[in-house]
Amino acid sequence: MPKVLVTGGAGYIGSHTVRLLLSQGYDVTVVDDLSHGYRHNVPPERLNAMNICHTAALAELMRQTRPAAVVHFAAFIAVGESMREPERYFANNVGGSLSLLTAMVQAGIRHIVFSSTAAVYGNPHATPILETFPIQPVNPYGESKVMVETLLRWFDAIHHLTSVSLRYFNAAGADPSGALGEQHEPETHLIPLLFRAIMTGKPITIFGNDYNTPDGTCIRDYIHVNDLAQAHILALEHLMSGGATSQFNVGTGTGHTVMEVVRAVEEVTGKKVPYTIGARREGDSDALVAASGKLRQSLKWEPRFPNLRAIVEHAWGFAKKHY
Ligand SMILES: NC(=O)c1ccc[n+]([C@@H]2O[C@H](COP(=O)([O-])OP(=O)(O)OC[C@H]3O[C@@H](n4cnc5c(N)ncnc54)[C@H](O)[C@@H]3O)[C@@H](O)[C@H]2O)c1
Repeated sequence: MPKVLVTGGAGYIGSHTVRLLLSQGYDVTVVDDLSHGYRHNVPPERLNAMNICHTAALAELMRQTRPAAVVHFAAFIAVGESMREPERYFANNVGGSLSLLTAMVQAGIRHIVFSSTAAVYGNPHATPILETFPIQPVNPYGESKVMVETLLRWFDAIHHLTSVSLRYFNAAGADPSGALGEQHEPETHLIPLLFRAIMTGKPITIFGNDYNTPDGTCIRDYIHVNDLAQAHILALEHLMSGGATSQFNVGTGTGHTVMEVVRAVEEVTGKKVPYTIGARREGDSDALVAASGKLRQSLKWEPRFPNLRAIVEHAWGFAKKHY
């Protein structure tokens, strides 16, 4: 089976993808500096604790392992932090990606699947969001992903390095085995924060209930992390069989309000979520839902866990043991 190099494979989405790749017979090498990932998320013999900014070391690892393709998750991911420290986000997300692409060219590796984000669309004029909507990020995190998509266009034009940029919506859930799950520090994602509120009794603040949605709370598109992982494998197959550079939204196409997620968490856990309603968060849109037709048609992707209930059940399976 093909060899694949995964950057950021010790993090949340990366570790689920590594597990799925291994279960489908791929030979996986992980590069992660463990700045936000966990050693225990990856089989020890697969892990190289290395920063992707070290171009020469990366190129040497690629020459030794000869991967057919790279899956690139390694990045800083907190939108709010990127508004306070943009330099760190551009250095790590853009500088790190440029280093990785440079190493790939030096080692002759020709394909990459890149973790992009719905944040590249900023606050779009309509929803569901098509890949052809204007690219207009509203924070340095989203801008850093746009800049990498731009690098990828030029590396294809000049070095014939083909890529798939997957623009994820809200990754959520956990491996059904309970062995892997979401453990960001700091945590900014809704479902783990709802679990924390239940466990600590400290109310979570819901940012606004006067949006133009059925219950006034924001609508987002929650996608199960294993369905997201499978999209990477289909993207790899597309590139390795000669497919062209492309960009795809990865979401289910169905949105849920924050209050729907609160209710799902209460049903699954059997506990009340303590919460307060706070002010709107600057820059939040009413609804962000993916148009996922391009991914479904071109890569034959179908979510196995499209229901919010399954996403919350799997997330809870992990959280109750690990938080
Ligand atoms: N979680 C989401 O909902 C979401 C949504 C859209 C896009 N994304 C993107 O998906 C990717 C993975 O997100 P995640 O939620 O798994 O985050 P995560 O923080 O759990 O994983 C990122 C991993 O990259 C590693 N890393 C960071 N900088 C590195 C560097 N310079 N060298 C080596 N390793 C480095 C970290 O240690 C961590 O293990 C990111 O690129 C993120 O921008 C995530």
